[in-house]
Amino acid sequence: MVISQPMVIERLNRKQYEFLCQFIYKETGIVLGDAKVEMVHRRLSKLVKTKGFDSLASYYQYFVAHQQEEKSDLVNALTTNLTRFFRESHHFDYLKNHFIPFLLVRNKSTRRIRIWSSACSTGEEPYSIAMLLVSHFGQYLQHWDIKILATDIDTDVLNIAMEGIYPKAAISDIPADLRSKCLRAVGNDSVEMASQVRSLITFKPLNLLERWPMKGPFDVIFCRNVIIYFDKVTQQQLFHRFEQYLSDESLLILGHSESLGGAAALFTNQGKTIFSKQAQDA
Ligand SMILES: C[S@@+](CC[C@H](N)C(=O)[O-])C[C@H]1O[C@@H](n2cnc3c(N)ncnc32)[C@H](O)[C@@H]1O
Repeated sequence: MVISQPMVIERLNRKQYEFLCQFIYKETGIVLGDAKVEMVHRRLSKLVKTKGFDSLASYYQYFVAHQQEEKSDLVNALTTNLTRFFRESHHFDYLKNHFIPFLLVRNKSTRRIRIWSSACSTGEEPYSIAMLLVSHFGQYLQHWDIKILATDIDTDVLNIAMEGIYPKAAISDIPADLRSKCLRAVGNDSVEMASQVRSLITFKPLNLLERWPMKGPFDVIFCRNVIIYFDKVTQQQLFHRFEQYLSDESLLILGHSESLGGAAALFTNQGKTIFSKQAQDA
């Protein structure tokens, strides 16, 4: 009997590793560096196996010769996509109790609300916002023009987000009253987002470092748990661009361990990692 041995993937050498780190940094802003060697090795090993290469070195050579064609698969393999429904629930409480009621008064003349989930991963963040709107502000949805733009650089996670189907185990973070209004069972183990929830969201691929095709302005921008992967210069550039895409007094929401640094002067703190753009004439 022949027992197949698990394939052992040799490590990249330093020069190869540094080339890939530099490539990812230039393409995405993500800083990998020495602290991420194990993670990169693990994720690349998986990619290499999926693609049918017998070693990291042979994939590396192929990659160097086909950078443009391979770019998206490499980026998708090396992004960290961890997310949950209603992650950092105080952000959603603030929207429900303060900011959406405020917008319903402030934007009365246009009846328009625009929300951007700018690193949406597999969709839990924008669906949480949409479920909140459907469940608590449903009476406005017919007469108001309310839309959520959800973007991410990783096309694999966007495909999952667009499907809108999640394992039952993932929904424990969704408040019970929202579950009955917003989810439909699919077989025994999965749920899908109701069409009213889906209809509020447009999913698009977007690299935060590149040109943004939309005009804005937005009333709320979620940029949570992504800038931690960027260096300070990239973070500051991004905060200044977000500020340009917000109307006065509109919100920028960051992740729990993220802060504005020097760009804090452009915003007013409204709560834990919730910031509003200062009015121009303030
Ligand atoms: C940890 S997830 C955060 C998901 C969600 N915002 C949350 O807080 O739960 C980070 C996401 O940022 C995305 N990302 C990383 N670099 C990006 C870039 N340059 N442009 C757009 N998205 C990026 C990744 O693909 C990943 O899905």
